[in-house]
Formats: sequence, C-alpha cells, structure tokens
Amino acid sequence: MYCVKRIKDDLFWVGGTDRRLALFENAFPIPRGISYNAYLLVDEKTVLFDTVDRAITEQFFENIEAILKGRTLDYVVVNHMEPDHCATLGEIVRRYPEVKVVCNPKTVPIIKQFYNFDIDSRAMIVKENDTFCTGRHTFTFIMAPMVHWPEVMVTYDTTDKTLFSADAFGTFGAMNGNLFADEVNFERDWLDDARRYYTNIVGKYGPSVQTLLKKASALEIHTLCPLHGPVWRKDIDWYVDKYLTWSSYEPEEKAVMIAYGSIYGNTENAANILAGMLADRGVRNIAMYDVSSTHPSTMISEAFRCSHLVIASVTYNGGIFSNMEHFLMDLKAHNLQNRTVAIMENGSWGVLSGKQMREIIGSMKNMTILDETVTVKSALKEDQLAILEGMADAIVRTMNQQ
Ligand code: FEO
Repeated sequence: MYCVKRIKDDLFWVGGTDRRLALFENAFPIPRGISYNAYLLVDEKTVLFDTVDRAITEQFFENIEAILKGRTLDYVVVNHMEPDHCATLGEIVRRYPEVKVVCNPKTVPIIKQFYNFDIDSRAMIVKENDTFCTGRHTFTFIMAPMVHWPEVMVTYDTTDKTLFSADAFGTFGAMNGNLFADEVNFERDWLDDARRYYTNIVGKYGPSVQTLLKKASALEIHTLCPLHGPVWRKDIDWYVDKYLTWSSYEPEEKAVMIAYGSIYGNTENAANILAGMLADRGVRNIAMYDVSSTHPSTMISEAFRCSHLVIASVTYNGGIFSNMEHFLMDLKAHNLQNRTVAIMENGSWGVLSGKQMREIIGSMKNMTILDETVTVKSALKEDQLAILEGMADAIVRTMNQQ
C-alpha cells in the first residue's frame, strides 16, 4: 500500500523508511533506522527528485504510482548518484521508458558505471544556474561537489522557494509519521543523529559544504528537502547555523569529551578521577566513552561537538590500544580541527602510547595539545593526583580563554 505525504499542493514525499538495516553504508549503526527521501512534483510535467535505496523499492513504486494516477513520469532529477539514492534509477527508466534524466556532466559517467541503460539519449545535462521550467515551476541548479560525492548538485524551485538539498541537511533516523522537522522535537530527539550523520558522512568535506552554504545564503528558502530525515519549513536558519559550525570545524559547545582505552580498568580509573575533578571545577555534561564499547561514529560526532578532548589510552603491542588508534585515525580522516586535547597514557612494561597519540593529533590542523600529560604506570598512585589536578586546571583554564 502506498505511503506518501503532501508537502505542497503539487509536491509529495514518495520516499520510505528502513528500520531493519543495522549499518548504514555497512559502517554506521542506525538503531533509529533511516529514511530515503524522494520527492514527486505533479506540474504540467511530472518530475521526480532522486530515487531511493534498493531496500524500499516496492514501497517507492507504489508511492509514485499513487501520485501519478496513470500519468507518465517526464523527468527524474539526479542530485546524487550514491546507491542509497540511485539504486532504483534503472527501474525508473525501465518502467518509464520516455523519462528524461536531469543531471550534470559529472553524473553521466557515474550512471554509466552503475548502469547499462542508454543514458546519452535521455540525459538532460544541466550546469550551474541553468533554468528548467515544468509549467508553474521553474528550477535552477547549483553544483555542490563533494557534498558528499563529486557529482552532487542541489536543485532550487524558484517558484515555491524549495531547496532539494541532496545529502546536505540529512540525518539518520526513520520518519515516524511526522514528515516535518517542526512536528518533532528535533533538538531533543534528532540533533545527535543529525550531527553523527553530518560529521561521519560529510564531515571530511567542510570547505565544500561552506561553499554550498554560501551559495544557498543567496536564496530565499521556504522549504528544505534533504535526502534523509525530516523536511524543514520553519527554523531553517537554526539548522543552517549548525552546518556553518560543523563545516568550519568550530566546536559546537564548550564541553569536554573523554575517550579512554582501558584493558583492566586502570586507565578508566584515572579518566574517572579526572572527570570528577573537572566536575568539581564546574564543568558540566562531561561526555565519557570507552573506545572498546562505543562505535567510532559516536565519538567522531562528539569530537565535533566538544571544544576539549581528553584522549586516554593504555599501551598495547608497543603502540596505542587498537580501538583508540582506530578512533584517532578516523578523527584525522574526518579532518577535525581547532580542538584542545589532553593526553593520558598508561603502560606496564613501557609507556609508549602517549608519544604516538601526540604524533597523530599533532598531524591534524590547529590542534592544541596541552603540556599537562598524565603518565600512569599500571595504576594511578596517590602522589599523581596533583598531576591530574594540573590537567583539570589546564582544561578549565583553556575553556575559559575561548
Ligand atoms: Fe545519502 Fe551520499 O548518500
């Protein structure tokens, strides 16, 4: 049975949700599921904006047929060719053989890589600021390379001021009946997943996102239609502001995240004592994660949120505890910058993790590593509490300076 939502008189959400998928991109846990958004405009011409993941094929085509009511599909706009949005493009072409595929020059070779259908005869190639009239509506196209793939573009409806923003402004999380962000408590229930989605999927490409945000700032946007998660028609500036912060690698909050790698609990104990000292100094909402039981995507997201990071790891095989090393390399790959970092190391035969953690963090841009390193040999001793106090003082001092 079809399951569609009306956005405007002639614009419909025809996407779907997947609550069965465990890992998005076979990498990121999505306990709240995921939505794959596609939008269908019924103007003098009919236009589909993107397709959906293979997992919801049946739902998607029932939705399209329910809205088209026997009309054909004239155009499909391909804003992004990643398979979570294009896996059903071939089936669209098979079912609607006359359909024109609206895309940019970078999209065509990727379509050819994924598909064998004849794209050259049906492609309507567009470039930056081209216009496309479908009757009442006129659209323009804005190239957005690397938000999140090279061929990405966004499409702007100049008539109703709707921006089809591709992956930008998307989020993990299945829609629970409410299509619009103003129908849910987004800040309470969605923001963490939106941040985790942005930082892990697009976070590496901050400058590209900034370029898109600059172009979008010239547009009057009444409705924001991303490819994942709720549609925005209120408080769009609030969400754009989050993107401005994340994409500039500025911390969202003055806050501390402690990530620790501990084998028998001694490094964890030192981290716990430090956390208590920070709390005594007035630091609130301290975030603390065990790298062995926390998915890296959560810690990546938290590192983008927090101004200060405490990285605590035992020495393992002469290096950094493997889960911590994985997390730090992931952090570097995601281009995190502009953070203040405190390092805590531990080891029973040799204490070697601190130097190597310092090297990885030092190779990232604009990272300030505090001089106050804590070195534990197997277990923290009473006479080391003053060193921990010194680290807590340095964290609080630098927080107050920012
Ligand atoms: Fe939702 Fe980059 O695909």
